[in-house]
Amino acid sequence: MKKFVTIKNKLKKFKKEIYISGDKSISIRCVLLASQAIGISKIYNLLESEDIFNTLKSVKKLGIKVKKKKNYYEISGLGLNGYRARKGLTLNAGNSGTFARLILGLLVNINEEVKLIGDKSLSKRNFSRITEPLKLFGTRATTFKNKLPVKIRGAEYLRPIDYHEKIGSAQCKSAVMLAALKTPGITKIKAKRSRNHTELLFKSLGIPIKTEIKNNYDYIEVRGLHNFKGFSYKIPGDISSCSFFLVLTILSDDSELIIRNVNINFTRNGIIKILNLMNANILISNKKKYKGELIADLKIKSRKNLKSINCPAKYNTTAIDEFLVIFLIAAKAKGTSTFKNLEELNQKESPRLDIAIKFLKEIGIKVRRNKNDIKIVGNPNLNLNGKYIINNFRKDHRVFMMSCIAAFSFGGYWKIYNPESVNTSFPNFFKTVDQLGKKLI
Ligand code: S3P
Repeated sequence: MKKFVTIKNKLKKFKKEIYISGDKSISIRCVLLASQAIGISKIYNLLESEDIFNTLKSVKKLGIKVKKKKNYYEISGLGLNGYRARKGLTLNAGNSGTFARLILGLLVNINEEVKLIGDKSLSKRNFSRITEPLKLFGTRATTFKNKLPVKIRGAEYLRPIDYHEKIGSAQCKSAVMLAALKTPGITKIKAKRSRNHTELLFKSLGIPIKTEIKNNYDYIEVRGLHNFKGFSYKIPGDISSCSFFLVLTILSDDSELIIRNVNINFTRNGIIKILNLMNANILISNKKKYKGELIADLKIKSRKNLKSINCPAKYNTTAIDEFLVIFLIAAKAKGTSTFKNLEELNQKESPRLDIAIKFLKEIGIKVRRNKNDIKIVGNPNLNLNGKYIINNFRKDHRVFMMSCIAAFSFGGYWKIYNPESVNTSFPNFFKTVDQLGKKLI
């Protein structure tokens, strides 16, 4: 693939209907849970991206058979005790924070030391937020200065824990839930609200779990050591990948887009809520429930009168991966938008809060920062004609895609590096751009 893409023109008007690839969070969870089931699972519409390939490679290294069939992946689980690790086993999570964090939960009972490594970006991220609670179960786990590599050796006798998760991280919550699966007795979790795909999957598999929401906290109880059988699952479209095209349509002229079969689960729908508060008018139709998830079609048109927002912080976790493109809408809205408590944005594949501020300033948008709060002064007449080079963003897939959307929407001459980064979460990104009428690669 090329070192960079060049974008010189805005997108011409389009009117299309598209499907978006499978949800990354659910894809990783389905593979991991299938690897713990007894017997064969069939996973349809699995996202075929690097994060998922790293997940599949790693479960294979742990002794699980994976076969790619015509339109599904077949995973032969060996039950809760089925992983086998040879001496000196190293798992490489690549860029995937979700896989890296969740697999640690499943390794709490592994009988050999396993080393977990990742790429440059993942190696800068915090892992003690996972190893600390896992150690409470009795497992041994070390980090290198709170980061990768993590070395973990499971314990034969695990004890259930009471865990208070304060960040609002679904990865922390899920790692503990997966460890709880392997532990006798009841593990109790109080977690600041975050995406709930692990809870919904546990429920659909009949794993004993109780959940309750109180004052923006999830109270979860998992009873461990419950065996479950192989299952079938059809992964819905990823709202995070979808968000690039929602924003592109809003910012384009005279365009319309329907995106079918998107997961709009209420723990993931912050982008819809926020953009609608900014006068975007995203319409939801054909809602259906699937294994607890809420799937629907989204319809969106270009909008001229975008309004600024004082974004309620309660939406932060439900839109955590979408803020980069939400900021593009704020850049074009009338008035000053405020976003607060965005510290977790700097804990992602790149420090996204820092990068977004630099990006917005480079395209001439006024941004004021106070610690982890930002104010973006919108410019409804934003129209660029300068030259913009986007580089040094730790190959963060979402920074790359957001930059392409800015280029298509605001004009100017752009050179955006590391197009291969889309392979992390959304290898079909370029194909979807093609569908809207532009050949990029
Ligand atoms: C994810 C949780 C979020 C999100 C990430 C996927 C998940 O991270 O940013 O892209 O699948 O659990 P945190 O749990 O660290 O907030």
